[in-house]
Amino acid sequence: MRWGDLEDGPVWRAWRDRKTAEAPSGLGDLVVEMADLAAPTDAEVAAIRALARRCNMAVVAERPHGRPEAEDKAALVALGRRLGVTSLDRNLLADDDGVTPLAVHKGGTRARYIPYTDRPIAWHTDGYYNPPERTVRALLLYCARPAASGGENRLMDHEMLYLRLRDEDPGHIAALMRPDAMTIPGNDEDGFDRQDTVGPVFAEDKDGSLLVRYTARARNVAWSPDPAVQAAAAAIQRILNAGGADVFTGRLTTGMGLVSNNVLHTRERFVDDEANPRLLYRARFHDRILG
Ligand SMILES: [Fe+2]
Repeated sequence: MRWGDLEDGPVWRAWRDRKTAEAPSGLGDLVVEMADLAAPTDAEVAAIRALARRCNMAVVAERPHGRPEAEDKAALVALGRRLGVTSLDRNLLADDDGVTPLAVHKGGTRARYIPYTDRPIAWHTDGYYNPPERTVRALLLYCARPAASGGENRLMDHEMLYLRLRDEDPGHIAALMRPDAMTIPGNDEDGFDRQDTVGPVFAEDKDGSLLVRYTARARNVAWSPDPAVQAAAAAIQRILNAGGADVFTGRLTTGMGLVSNNVLHTRERFVDDEANPRLLYRARFHDRILG
């Protein structure tokens, strides 16, 4: 499949038929039970890879275990390694080991960034502001402690978004593959030294996979004024917000995680139990989970 070839031919139709036939029918189809995140069995790895091929994501659910909480981060990295992703994206707010603990911060630098609050986060892919050499291809999350309520994620496979957009108008895809489709303003605060990044929403990766970068947060993005890009951006919003069978909603609870090729996702608002606040670990990788 050549993502930029928009001819309505047999390659596209075969891919489209397979993609829709294999699409999960609900969140339950995505779940892979695991005995130990840090030491996946061959069968568990095969199940995760099969889901990565079908829809770019899996929800792992670890059975109760005796691992101390301090080893959760290493377990998440070990799972990534077994899935062939090793190149951690070390952003400034991650811990030294490259894994970011996501919890509400009441003060300090982290508190100024929305992941470290209890507020909802609109549709996005992780690292959409990164330069091309630091493209985030895989995103792994692990829930050590859920919120008292809320904190669900909505999830959508970016290949399915591509399919729906192309069904509506192949011109949307052409517009979203333009190298000037979206500009992410730089950030020079808090020790960041990030220039504006200009690039497409959809791109074909060096291995032929479909790459996506996106944010629905209007203040974090400047769309090309081109009418075709404007129309395509509006179509994305409409499709994501419509929900429906292509959007999966799940709430990670203790021992559950998301394994994904950086699919589109949200995080809903949550309320913490102050004595036992929500804690998720997040690992971003420059490589992709192969199916
Ligand atoms: Fe995210």
